[in-house]
Amino acid sequence: MSTEANAAAAATFTPVLKLADLPANTKKAVQVGARCILVCNNNDKLFAISNVCSHNEKPLERGRMGNGWIACPVHGARFDLATGAALNLPAKLPVATYEVRVSGDDIEVLV
Ligand code: FES
Repeated sequence: MSTEANAAAAATFTPVLKLADLPANTKKAVQVGARCILVCNNNDKLFAISNVCSHNEKPLERGRMGNGWIACPVHGARFDLATGAALNLPAKLPVATYEVRVSGDDIEVLV
């Protein structure tokens, strides 16, 4: 098995929040191991992205959410919540995204 396959096999869904604690159009930062992940409920769709802006490594958690995106509160770069792609300058690089699911009352993130 390749190293990449080993890493994929090691990834597991981790419960990070109760579904009731993340109403529509809110977001919360959670720590999973060394990763700080921002879990977003955007119009009742769940997303999980890195909480660290790719422009200057500032947290995204206080940023404004729009329809499918979040804006960095520092310089205004927006990121696509589904893909992590930078949608405008000054950010050029994407942020990491994570698979997210609901299991019972829990929101789980694949890390
Ligand atoms: S730190 Fe986020 S856009 Fe500059």
